[in-house]
Amino acid sequence: MRRVGFLTSGGDCQALNAAMRGVVKCLANSGEEFEFYGFLNGYMGLIAGNFRILAAKEFSGILTRGGTILGSSRMPFKQIREPDEEGRDKVESMKQTYHKLQLDCLVVLGGNGSQKTANLLRKEGLNIVSLPKTIDNDLWGTEMTFGFQSAVDIATNVIDCIHTTADSHGRVFIIEIMGHKAGWLALNAGMAGGADIILLPEIPYDIKKVVAKIEERAKKGSRFTIIAVAEGALSKEEADMKKKDLEAKRKKEGYTSASYEVAQEIEKKTGMEVRVTVPGHMQRGGAPDAYDRVFASRLGAEAGQLILKEKYGYMVAYQNREIVKMPLDEIAGKLKTIPKDASIIKEAKMLGVSFGD
Ligand code: F6P
Repeated sequence: MRRVGFLTSGGDCQALNAAMRGVVKCLANSGEEFEFYGFLNGYMGLIAGNFRILAAKEFSGILTRGGTILGSSRMPFKQIREPDEEGRDKVESMKQTYHKLQLDCLVVLGGNGSQKTANLLRKEGLNIVSLPKTIDNDLWGTEMTFGFQSAVDIATNVIDCIHTTADSHGRVFIIEIMGHKAGWLALNAGMAGGADIILLPEIPYDIKKVVAKIEERAKKGSRFTIIAVAEGALSKEEADMKKKDLEAKRKKEGYTSASYEVAQEIEKKTGMEVRVTVPGHMQRGGAPDAYDRVFASRLGAEAGQLILKEKYGYMVAYQNREIVKMPLDEIAGKLKTIPKDASIIKEAKMLGVSFGD
């Protein structure tokens, strides 16, 4: 009998359940015997020894279910070595839980910070297999993360809805799309929704260029403009600032993100009516789309294979249309942002999209 632990860590996303189901189905179909332990609320469950023993059948019927049946929480990597509220050494506590339950392996479904912690636990001697989750698609070593395509669908739907009302009222609309450090979601939803301007953390904008694009459209007879703004978009001036100076600037000006700053500047400079729409956590919610169901199931099956072969210390990843395994040590802590010379940026520009640069 082998014992496998599961945890889902960080911001949730669609297809977490589909991915766990994939791992369990693969293991259950192998003919070998397994016992499954689900740690509740991410690494917190592993630290506190808060878990449930789950039968394989409890992972059935969850392919289409959003969120995570285990619950999740954020546990910033920089705090992992600090004692928790009860004075426990978090890393030691996690190791103790793992050994006390005599686990053979821990399956971690997580984004950037969670992969870093997974790698730390690997270095501490635990057997780890991880899966790439996040709507931000910003994990190094994989071309795709599950959750991303579902979030693109939702954000695109928002832009589609905004399009009709923007047209009726002849307004400029800003749709703020999740993604603090990487703009993959804003870029893809922006293109899918036919946004005229897309502002990304990777391409600092010049407000004059943004205004010029709106005026050019107005001159050509367009009554409205759609702008997709990533949460982490920055002006050229802001991009040169230190993080704490930027935070102080935004606080002083009363803006929580670039969207509101851009909105006010456009209103001032063009006299047009501007509205901001923030779909927020809706982008992480609801059922996974068909792509994510298939993708997460494939990742789950391949993660199951790694467990069967006792190949630990890897994240299952997507490269060149294949599911591959990437050493955790190679991918942990690295962010995948949009490269400056990405062809998708060039193609969007060919279509007339402005990035405000
Ligand atoms: O999980 C990724 C993400 O959704 C980012 O796109 C977003 O900036 C952040 O999480 C929001 O975090 P929280 O759920 O903690 O508000």
